[in-house]
Amino acid sequence: MSGGDFRIGVLGSGNGSNCEAILQACASGRIPGQIALVLSDVADAPILGRARKHGVEAQFIGPSQFDTKLEPELEERAAQLLRDAGVALVALAGYMRVVKSPLLGAFAGRMLNVHPSLLPRFPGLRAWEQALKAGAKVTGCTVHFVEEGVDSGPIILQREVAVLDDDTPESLHERIRSAEHEIYPEAIRLFAEGKLKIDGRTVRILET
Ligand code: GAR
Repeated sequence: MSGGDFRIGVLGSGNGSNCEAILQACASGRIPGQIALVLSDVADAPILGRARKHGVEAQFIGPSQFDTKLEPELEERAAQLLRDAGVALVALAGYMRVVKSPLLGAFAGRMLNVHPSLLPRFPGLRAWEQALKAGAKVTGCTVHFVEEGVDSGPIILQREVAVLDDDTPESLHERIRSAEHEIYPEAIRLFAEGKLKIDGRTVRILET
């Protein structure tokens, strides 16, 4: 289904359209690698079905008694599954919990996230709605390295999306998602090809 030895693990809680974009970029060879494992903290999340449809191993991690994070034992289990799958990079794709040290420590510097705003503006939940409420004329999306803290970490790529006068939260989020589907696979390609260098808070892209 895809080429390349570079193995990617994906964590998501919901629809999985970003996971789908990554799967397609692997299948077309744009990303020189493959998704080896998809994990979700939501038992019936569509992301699990999407992965299985592509022949990718997909598992539920839970249940958890928390809403905003996973118990350390569950994170340990996720880390072990990802290690066993030979994953070199973990991509958070609509994963709605904060990643804590068991998982983050196992993949330090090897975990990316996509967020639906131009960080550092509008971190946290429903960032598209935050942009609308703030009256922003422009918002967008960001792919960044994950570190401790919510939606922080060195920024790799960003894409602007205009806010239109008649936007609803849904219409704005839909256009942001489309932009995410372009920049997330691109950031993963750059990582897989060793073209990202973290220099303090700045990510240098080593490409001519
Ligand atoms: C995406 O817009 C992603 O940026 C957002 O959830 C959506 C998931 O869509 N993530 C966050 O808000 C995390 N802070 P998807 O499941 O269709 O990929």
